[in-house]
Amino acid sequence: MTKNLVVYFSKDGEQYGVGEITEGNTAVLAKIIAAKLKADLFEIKLKNDTYPKGYEPLTKVALSEKKAKARPEIEEMAADFAQYDTVFLGCPNWWADMPMAVYSFIEKYDWSDKRIAPFVTHEGSGMSGIDTKIAAAANPKEVLNGLEMYGHIAQNQREEATQRVDVWLKKSGF
Ligand SMILES: Cc1cc2nc3c(=O)[nH]c(=O)nc-3n(C[C@H](O)[C@H](O)[C@H](O)COP(=O)(O)O)c2cc1C
Repeated sequence: MTKNLVVYFSKDGEQYGVGEITEGNTAVLAKIIAAKLKADLFEIKLKNDTYPKGYEPLTKVALSEKKAKARPEIEEMAADFAQYDTVFLGCPNWWADMPMAVYSFIEKYDWSDKRIAPFVTHEGSGMSGIDTKIAAAANPKEVLNGLEMYGHIAQNQREEATQRVDVWLKKSGF
């Protein structure tokens, strides 16, 4: 029996190209993937989330965190990480990188027997090598081909988003 986990970081509030949203773009994809695979789902959340809700101020905070290589404290995952074979790891593209909280998550665990399937939402930059950054930070058994999708498609074109997730999962052998 193989067991899959979907882990994601995502922001609601104001996002580029979609305005005020109550569910983040990456969260939408994470939930589609988890529902299709009947996988467990975990959202990476800051212990003390002081991120601004507005897009412009958030970009400034995120850039200074990236420059500082910050590792914000995150909430614990209750489930036992060791039980999973494949981890679908999703995040928005922030300044051509992962949000620093995703590094906080990665650095908590031993990935040596895990496969990672990365998925990224963005507004034009695509994957930006985030899959390679995941490989370097986690050093897992394998990194599968990632999925990248415009955030506004995940948010506003759910049918297309679902179809693209289907195609990706099939190609990856799920
Ligand atoms: C802090 C920040 C930095 C971003 N940097 C980029 C970027 O470098 N390239 C890009 O294509 N999109 C960038 N975006 C847009 C997000 O990747 C995009 O809106 C994403 O879908 C947001 O996902 P979420 O709602 O799950 O947080 C940035 C957004 C934020 C908030």
